[in-house]
Amino acid sequence: MKYQFKVTQTQNSTLSAVDFDNLPFGKTFSDHMFVADYIGGQWTNLEIRPVAPLPTHPGNMAWHYGQEIFEGMKATRDAEGTPLLYRPERHAKRMNYSARRMCMPEIPEDLFLQAIHTLVHMERAWIPPQAGSALYIRPFMYATDETIGVKASDTYRFIIFVMPVGPYYSQPVKLWAQDTYVRAVVGGVGDAKTAGNYAASLLPAAMARKQGFDQVMWLDGVHKKYIQEIGTMNIFFVIGDEIVTPNLDGAILDGITRECVITLLKDWGLKVSERPITIDEIVQAHKEGRLVESFGTGTAAVIAPVARIGYKDYIMDLDQNIDKISTKVYNTINGIRNRTITDKFGWIVPAQP
Ligand code: COI
Repeated sequence: MKYQFKVTQTQNSTLSAVDFDNLPFGKTFSDHMFVADYIGGQWTNLEIRPVAPLPTHPGNMAWHYGQEIFEGMKATRDAEGTPLLYRPERHAKRMNYSARRMCMPEIPEDLFLQAIHTLVHMERAWIPPQAGSALYIRPFMYATDETIGVKASDTYRFIIFVMPVGPYYSQPVKLWAQDTYVRAVVGGVGDAKTAGNYAASLLPAAMARKQGFDQVMWLDGVHKKYIQEIGTMNIFFVIGDEIVTPNLDGAILDGITRECVITLLKDWGLKVSERPITIDEIVQAHKEGRLVESFGTGTAAVIAPVARIGYKDYIMDLDQNIDKISTKVYNTINGIRNRTITDKFGWIVPAQP
């Protein structure tokens, strides 16, 4: 089905003021956004309009009970300037997975995709050409009922806005394995992309920073020993000749970059395991000299090499001066994204007007 969008063009583009060589992550926004409302059981008021603050009533349920979900996607361009989306249909499906878990309405996949295509095509001049930079796409949905009382909202707003971004991490990251606070338990909302998961990570992340680390490595909520994910990414370890990432147990975000990395590694004939892995196994592998490498994966971060892992009083420094698997993965994903490497898995979709 083809949807009709009302389109209002900005009269005050800020594009010419952007320094594409110097783009801190998440601070520069493009001119237009897509907005839709869920009222009376259907998506309506489908519109692309200039980015601007949206007035919100203090009784808005999203403020009070946290019914919010989001996605993070990226668009790049090839040498001819064609705007390219990366696995948009996979993001549409994950958005709806989060919607179901948070008791929110699904967004028809064709509406989600048409909105992304149209907006990104319209904002294609905002896609940075620099290698490693991209147009970050943030679709999100939140409750809009003005009611105090814990129940699912009847009305919602769905917005997509986009921003040119440079790298999320500019250096290999230092991770602190957290054994006091937990992020998620099986049966909770850890595998939904919902704001509260990130809010809950802020205090432990601030504590990690005080100790010289960049982020938290989450351990499971029951045994406090099984590694789950990082506050901003999924995690991989190279132990001897095995590449291990925690299996999706319902408490871990089903990362789309994670899935791409597993596909690439298997395609290269490497041994990849999705299995439970404890922090004790990592410590032991490090002591025995078998912990070769570790890296995080995520849409924002893409591939982030890990420089250090701390657990209790034990510090594991990882040699960055080796021929890293993470470098090959990073270069391959970036090459597929700018079409200098063949997209044999069909991950790239040109954005259509
Ligand atoms: C992403 O990787 O797209 C996320 O949503 C994570 C956040 C740290 C930006």
